[in-house]
Amino acid sequence: MRDEQVYDAIGDAGFTRLVRAFYAQVPADPILGPMYPPDDLGGAEQRLRDFLIGRFGGPPRYIEQRGHPRLRMRHAPFAINEAARNRWVMLMDRALAEARLPEDSHAVLREFFHSTATFMINRPA
Ligand code: HEM
Repeated sequence: MRDEQVYDAIGDAGFTRLVRAFYAQVPADPILGPMYPPDDLGGAEQRLRDFLIGRFGGPPRYIEQRGHPRLRMRHAPFAINEAARNRWVMLMDRALAEARLPEDSHAVLREFFHSTATFMINRPA
C-alpha cells in the first residue's frame, strides 16, 4: 500500500482512534509526560492527527493551520535522546495495536513512525 492510500483506508476515524490512544498514555509516562504541554494536550493531539491525515493522503489541515511541518526544527526545544525516541515508539506501537487498523495501513504507519522518530533524535544518549 502506498502512503497516500492510508487515509482512504482508515479515514478521520482511524487517525482519531490512533492518536487518542497514543495521547491517553502520555501524561502518566515518566519520560514523555513532562515534555508535553499539560494544559494543551488536546491541542497537541489535534496537531499530530492533522499532520498524519495530511501526510497520508487526507485533507491538508495541518499545513493550512501550521505551515510547512519542519518537524526536526519544531522538535528542537525538546530533549529527544534514544530513550525518549524508544519510549515514543513504544507508546505508538501500543496505540497502533489498540486502534485495530487494517494490517496494510498498520504496517505503513508503523514503518513511518519508527523511521521518523529516529530522525527526530537531537541529543546524545
Ligand atoms: C521521537 C520522539 C518524539 C518526541 C519526544 C516528541 C515530542 C513532541 C512534543 C513534546 C511536542 C509538542 C506538543 C505540541 O504539539 O504542543 C511535539 C509536537 C509534534 N510532534 Fe512530536 N515527538 C516525537 C516524535 C514525533 C514523530 C515521530 C512525529 C511524526 C509522526 C511527530 C510529530 C509531531 C507533530 C506534527 C507535532 C506538532 C508540531 C507543531 O505544529 O507544533 N513527533 N512532539
